[in-house]
Amino acid sequence: MSSFLETAAAAARAAAAVIKRDFGRPAGVRFKARMNPVTETDLAAEHAALQVLERAFPSHDILTEESAQAPRRSDYLWVVDPMDGTVNFTHAYPCVCASVGLLGGGELLAGAVCDPIRDELFTAEKGKGAALNGSPIRVSPVSALEGSLLCTGFPYRLVENPGETFRVFERVSLLAQGVRRDGSAALDICYVAAGRFDGFWERELKPWDTAAGVLILREAGGLATDFSGRQFDPFVPEIAATNSRIHDELIRALSPAGPAADRA
Ligand code: IPD
Ligand code: CA
Ligand code: CA
Repeated sequence: MSSFLETAAAAARAAAAVIKRDFGRPAGVRFKARMNPVTETDLAAEHAALQVLERAFPSHDILTEESAQAPRRSDYLWVVDPMDGTVNFTHAYPCVCASVGLLGGGELLAGAVCDPIRDELFTAEKGKGAALNGSPIRVSPVSALEGSLLCTGFPYRLVENPGETFRVFERVSLLAQGVRRDGSAALDICYVAAGRFDGFWERELKPWDTAAGVLILREAGGLATDFSGRQFDPFVPEIAATNSRIHDELIRALSPAGPAADRA
């Protein structure tokens, strides 16, 4: 394991330990927007992850959800979600994780996503495969939407424009075997990597929600694009992530003129 991946894993674990410590006891809950909470735990977890990253690579840049970091003009950018699934956390719904990814020259190089409730650490390094708690993982063999279990998320700004989100949800739900909505985008993508879901889609995500998970997915044999099938870019807030086999079918279903549009 390279020092990049070791550091990503150590930072994700450090943040996840804070989440585990506080799970079931949310404190200092305030709202960035009507549906978008932040807690003392988000901030403490971020502090723990930053300490690991700063100690290991003091010259690297860091993009993290809860605080702005001084720019260092490095070729390396760490992308950190100290707690993905804060709404779940505030309700003690056990679907929450810490996510740490590394971009170098714009490429995803290393990623770690740590679920402290299930004690699961998803990791990947570019070109070296993906693992769950050290054992290799692969995407599912499911080849049609009809037999697939999918996952999605709704944007925090859902109330401002619910129509398109629900139209897409309805269209895809009519085609798939099942659709879940678990509330932690980073874990949702890792579950596609591990073959638990066959695909995932969501709009209005941030780089810290997706960067680490997408590398883990790619290294497990999966594919991530935007809703039009263009290659995934962490700074484009839209993702379709699949086992690759159902990708084209999911992309067609996500389009307003998708195959089941006439049923909606
Ligand atoms: C959120 C989660 C959720 C997704 C939201 C994200 P947060 O991240 O990933 O599943 O639907 O769009 O913002 O706020 O818990 O870090
Ligand atoms: Ca998040
Ligand atoms: Ca977060």
